[in-house]
Amino acid sequence: MNLKDEFINYFVSLGHVQIPSAPLIPENDPSVLFNTAGMQPLIPYLMGKPHPEGKRLCDYQKCVRLTDLDSIGDKTHHTFFEMLGNWSLGDYFKQESITYSFNFLTKVLNIPLTKLAVTVFAGNSSIPRDNLSASIWESLGLSKDRIAYLGEEDNFWIAGETGPCGGDTEIFYFRSNDPVPKVFDPKDERWVEIWNNVFMEFNKDENGTITELPQKNVDTGMGLERVVAVLEGVDDNYKTSIWHEIISKIEEISHKPYENNEPSMRIIADHIRTAVFISADYAGIKPSNTDQGYILRRLIRRAIRHAKKLEIDMNSDWILEVAKVVITKYEDYYKEIKQNKEVVLEVLKNETIKFNRTLEKGLKEFSKLISHLDSKTIDKDNAFKLYDTYGFPIELTVEMAKEQGLWVDTEGFKEKFKEHQELSRTASAGKFKGGLSSQGEIETKYHTATHLLNAALKVVVGPDVHQKGSNITSERMRFDFSCDHKLSEEEKRETESLVNKWIMDDLPVNMSTMPKEEAIKNGAEAMFIEKYADIVNVYTIGDVSKEICGGPHVKHTGELGKFKIIKEEASSAGVRRIKAILE
Ligand code: ALA
Repeated sequence: MNLKDEFINYFVSLGHVQIPSAPLIPENDPSVLFNTAGMQPLIPYLMGKPHPEGKRLCDYQKCVRLTDLDSIGDKTHHTFFEMLGNWSLGDYFKQESITYSFNFLTKVLNIPLTKLAVTVFAGNSSIPRDNLSASIWESLGLSKDRIAYLGEEDNFWIAGETGPCGGDTEIFYFRSNDPVPKVFDPKDERWVEIWNNVFMEFNKDENGTITELPQKNVDTGMGLERVVAVLEGVDDNYKTSIWHEIISKIEEISHKPYENNEPSMRIIADHIRTAVFISADYAGIKPSNTDQGYILRRLIRRAIRHAKKLEIDMNSDWILEVAKVVITKYEDYYKEIKQNKEVVLEVLKNETIKFNRTLEKGLKEFSKLISHLDSKTIDKDNAFKLYDTYGFPIELTVEMAKEQGLWVDTEGFKEKFKEHQELSRTASAGKFKGGLSSQGEIETKYHTATHLLNAALKVVVGPDVHQKGSNITSERMRFDFSCDHKLSEEEKRETESLVNKWIMDDLPVNMSTMPKEEAIKNGAEAMFIEKYADIVNVYTIGDVSKEICGGPHVKHTGELGKFKIIKEEASSAGVRRIKAILE
């Protein structure tokens, strides 16, 4: 059995309910691009909201951390990783939490106690030292020498700046063949952290004030990749069973061994795995020049550049071959991977085709450019040209420059980039000027309009139309839906008039909360049923639309103004896309 299954089985046997991994792209939190920890989707419940599944939960959560993007290529870093976690939401606290972790490590995984050590919170001016955790560890047989007390920087955990937080105890494993030192020194890098148990009993607000939460929680996180490396006794995470098939595939298509080609192979493996997960996620992210789309683009293009370094045939389907190995590996654990397989492959294929068109010329331009340099710096104009004309993300140019011992004027690039962006923003703002009030309000209107459009398409085109995605900016809405044909002019016109009729009718928009099953029974439309919690919000608009949705929406459809379809086009196989505006 693998670690993921063992972890879940163990905590389920201790009365925990397994919850599905939340989407990688957080749903109602524009402040972060990706989920970075298992606890992130659980914040409201750590703050006191009752969780529909109870007080003991466990899961494996998809996470992406970008802070280490530049370190990818070494033995231990990954952009995507899975975090195993168990939670007590106001149920058990330190005693059980530490005992459960101890038993899992020493009795289920059979890690010898002699190879373990822990840190506990040394306390600060307002919170006392955590003697209780230390005494629990000792009672389980850990020697005093293996318990280190560390301060706030190390043993107090919070996701970002505000929210639930608390002291923690971190568990370390001695990853080396050297004799294990009697006394634990947390600075000795042979000790690697494998599990963090956070005792979340406080909340930190915007002013930095710490208050007690209504309940004492436990939040734990164990990085799967690292622990598997420990258990399999390798010092390179990419040599574990997690990466084996993926690296072998890259060896096969490049006709080169992993040895001596490690950095490029690790980058390709890591970036394609992350790209698969980002593009399979429910948000429907596509490569672009902003936010998650830009990260996706950067990852794919960097992987392609390293494939080129390994002399992989750029005209082959190599990227799809690697992606398919990733998909096979994860599809039984993540439904969206199975479901969106084709979308993922199409994203990778299209982005590869796009970048391949300019890659060769861009690389030539780069070589020419560096052979004529007067200084050691690539200036902003050239960096911008590589970006704008040849599609080289600035980070890629920086990486290539570094390999040649050169610098890039990234500050200058950013300025140029901003100027360029402002120019295009002014242009598009001009196009849509008039009548629109503040951002949030407009987006809310567009949000309600997507529900009306969804309902209208079902009437005009047929009941088999289902929403496949949507994207809203303050300037327009985009709506993807399943449909096997290009809409005729008549279908477009009818859809538009039906939406406008419903707007004129000034239908009331109502929200009610109910169990997911009941919502489905009542005929509520849902885009991806698995992704919702067990208790859902259902928005009804008059008697024309009923959808499971997080909101927000306007109160009456009359607030929307005039609805106008500006474009109807293909999005992917069997999926059409409508762009529309509210005037
Ligand atoms: N939230 C804690 C972490 O990410 C468990 O380390």
